[in-house]
Amino acid sequence: MYADRINSLPPYLFATIDRARQDAIKKGVDVINLSIGDPDMPTPPHIVEAMRRSVGDPARHRYPSYEGMLSFRTAAAKWYKKTMKIDIDPESEVLTLIGSKEGIAHIPLAFLNPGDVSLVPDPGYPVYNIGSILADGKPFKMPLLAENDFLPDLDAIPKDVANKAKIMFLNYPNNPTSATATTKFFEEVVDFAHENDILVIHDNAYSEMTYDGYKAPSFLSTSGAMDIGIEMHSLSKTYNMTGWRLGFAVGNKDILAGLGKVKTNVDSGAFEAVQDAGIAALSGSQDCVRDMNLIYKERRDALITGLNELGMDVKPPKATFYVWVKVKGKSLDFTKMLLEKSGIVATPGVGFGEYGEGYIRFALTQSVERINEAVGRMRKLRIE
Ligand code: MLT
Repeated sequence: MYADRINSLPPYLFATIDRARQDAIKKGVDVINLSIGDPDMPTPPHIVEAMRRSVGDPARHRYPSYEGMLSFRTAAAKWYKKTMKIDIDPESEVLTLIGSKEGIAHIPLAFLNPGDVSLVPDPGYPVYNIGSILADGKPFKMPLLAENDFLPDLDAIPKDVANKAKIMFLNYPNNPTSATATTKFFEEVVDFAHENDILVIHDNAYSEMTYDGYKAPSFLSTSGAMDIGIEMHSLSKTYNMTGWRLGFAVGNKDILAGLGKVKTNVDSGAFEAVQDAGIAALSGSQDCVRDMNLIYKERRDALITGLNELGMDVKPPKATFYVWVKVKGKSLDFTKMLLEKSGIVATPGVGFGEYGEGYIRFALTQSVERINEAVGRMRKLRIE
């Protein structure tokens, strides 16, 4: 009944984990969910209020514009100027997305012919791989290894693969490893992309989730990047808006036009009241982002201290709300054991790709008290 491309897809990682979590809750387990990167704190009130005001306006009830409201794209361009110091033309260099996942899933349709290669990080957010398969492309995995600071080794990509590659996905600050990229690495990527005629799609969903004074660079600030690349942003993590489905893509206008052409044919844009809320998020005070980062930092420190006390060697990440931990044995066995014996839900590294095997990922989406409780439960299991 199903097409080959659907048969070849694994079940979506987080849907599978969510089922296991719900089964445990049904059995009465006091579950501590540290799996999906879904912020537990509410959307800041000024953003909710902007939505409340907008949703009553009948003008907002009709089809939105395909590329997104110019007022939202202008807010995104101004936010870019302020946070990334880059000039962006809101008319041609910004596209509104129904969440960045949507843009990531659709972009291979614009640039891959059947059999064309897309370069995807492994471990990586599953949608880079899946979006490429749905476009009948051939994902080629770029291993992210600890010995390379979880950056892909561009020299290890075979020449014939680079020749067939049309797009490369990157994501720094990185999910799931929480690694960050240097500007030198981004310069190497731009050179590689120019040499091999490859478009770079940089997923920058975690750019604002940073700690200890670290500032995540925009890929687009690299000289030459605007010629070959775009950057995807999400309001989900920065403003606790996962449920609202709002993001945007910024960068090379021809790449955005390709993505826009797919989108005009398959969706009808983001609800304009949600875009009004997005304007409030991007243009309003950014104190909420600072405050949330302070909370995540406390949680990060509680978890890292706890894991180190258990004998695990984990360094505090500079960015993202993920902690990537090396474990003994297979990652899926480890996370199953954690759930069955201690009610803790973590994500098995292998769910992000074969090179994620041997790791598990914790998301900092619980209070310090619950994180301490999770560490206490792990201590009883004598995990290390
Ligand atoms: C994750 O947990 O990796 C992400 O939150 C999933 C997503 O953003 O869709």
